[in-house]
Amino acid sequence: MEKTLVIIKPGAIQRGLIGEVIHRFERKGLQLCGIKMMQLTDEILAEHYAHLVQRPYFKRIKDSMMITPVIICCWKGLEAVHIVHEMAGKTNGREAAFGTIRGDFSMSVQENIIHTSDSIETAKVELARFFTEDEIFQFDHTDLTYLYANDEI
Ligand code: PPS
Repeated sequence: MEKTLVIIKPGAIQRGLIGEVIHRFERKGLQLCGIKMMQLTDEILAEHYAHLVQRPYFKRIKDSMMITPVIICCWKGLEAVHIVHEMAGKTNGREAAFGTIRGDFSMSVQENIIHTSDSIETAKVELARFFTEDEIFQFDHTDLTYLYANDEI
């Protein structure tokens, strides 16, 4: 099963959307296997958004991600990386489809509620960036019968 990273951003924390975001992933059938509140720093954000270093909004994104602590989650499931990324919706909340998290709660490119890993390779790197090994718990929900067919897992 794949694991992927979700960061619930300061805008969502201020707007009281932590439970809503977690509820959506739980209802879908994803399993939460790591969660913590964390104050991000300039250093970790410079690494996390290194691909955006040349963009004019680089400093602005980093600043917005440090306004409050964030919630960092690890979600597990079959094809979890793709599913979680699709559930977030397009980066720009104004363009994101209704029914997605950004489509339902965001009007902004920057204030877009959550960050999600965009590929299996990125998910591995990002999980290692934000979690130590012992913060990701190795367990399974006891009964997957109603979530998957037995030839899917
Ligand atoms: S892109 O266009 O492929 O670089 O977009 P993406 O990788 O999906 O995400 C870019 C992150 O930067 C934040 N951000 C902006 N992106 C584009 N344009 C503007 N003006 C902008 N301002 C902020 C955006 O919220 C994405 O953050 P994450 O944490 O990845 O959602």
